[in-house]
Amino acid sequence: MQNFISVDDVSNINALVQQALAYKAAPFVDKALGLNKRIGLLFLNPSLRTRISTQVAAQNLGMEAIVFNVDKEGWALEFEEGAIMNGTTVEHIKDAAPILGNYFDILCVRTFPSLQNRQEDYSEKVISAFKKYAGVPVISLESATLHPLQSLTDLVTIKETFKGQHKPKIVLTWAPHIKPLPQCVSNSFAQWINAWGEADFVITHPEGYELSEQYTNGITIVHNQDEALKDADFVYVKNWSSYLDYGKILSQDPSWMLTQQKLQLTNNARVMHCLPVRRNVELSDEILDSANSLVTQEAGNRVWAAQAVISELVKRI
Ligand code: CP
Repeated sequence: MQNFISVDDVSNINALVQQALAYKAAPFVDKALGLNKRIGLLFLNPSLRTRISTQVAAQNLGMEAIVFNVDKEGWALEFEEGAIMNGTTVEHIKDAAPILGNYFDILCVRTFPSLQNRQEDYSEKVISAFKKYAGVPVISLESATLHPLQSLTDLVTIKETFKGQHKPKIVLTWAPHIKPLPQCVSNSFAQWINAWGEADFVITHPEGYELSEQYTNGITIVHNQDEALKDADFVYVKNWSSYLDYGKILSQDPSWMLTQQKLQLTNNARVMHCLPVRRNVELSDEILDSANSLVTQEAGNRVWAAQAVISELVKRI
């Protein structure tokens, strides 16, 4: 692995999942691996889980972790090639990224999409520019279109939880929300579960909420949520704004919120969500506070997923 931007950077998904679970069982076994190595965590957007779990993961490997909130404390960065910088941006990524590459052995970046311009967001100009100019391995802490550390975590959580003998049925369901959210988590989850290939995978959403076909090609998509939920072993709940009518909210239909009544249709499914979650909008209290909910375990597993990824990259430095 040279970078960690998407599932395409991973040669063996199951091996990476096993490494994460091994770190969960023995967090400090590789404490010497990152000695005298420094990791930079750059945030252009807010975070709770990603920020802290990645710091903890790096420290478990003996690395020094430095967090920089670029959006609040840094110069406004320019990403356009050939830009005439007579506006609000102060420093070009061409100048900033190589310097960060000097300071750090690994660079991690979180950035969100604008949800205004689909072509620009899906070009991944921010994370691509860091990758191009930093000169050190880059880890995505969520980009404009993907959230690979979250998806690896989700797979770790599914693998450690599922005890059945059959192929697990996993359902990704759209949920209502009051704000337009990125498609990153859902794109990424679809990409990882598809690449893993060991599940019966179904996506359900209202019409108009189709995700980009580059992530859903070959996946069963149904618009009837009840039908999709039938016999599910895992239900992954997530809101996303429209990809087709880019960044728009097309529905806030509360009947799409998962309830205990809907869960009766499933195989006593475990319920997942990346968090943060809007209680009683995206997911009901009765689900989140029930034994079916995996959300706390899932968020806890962010550490082990990050630790597995960082350790892979540190070994190559
Ligand atoms: N799931 C997730 O990425 O959480 P944060 O936004 O808090 O990092």
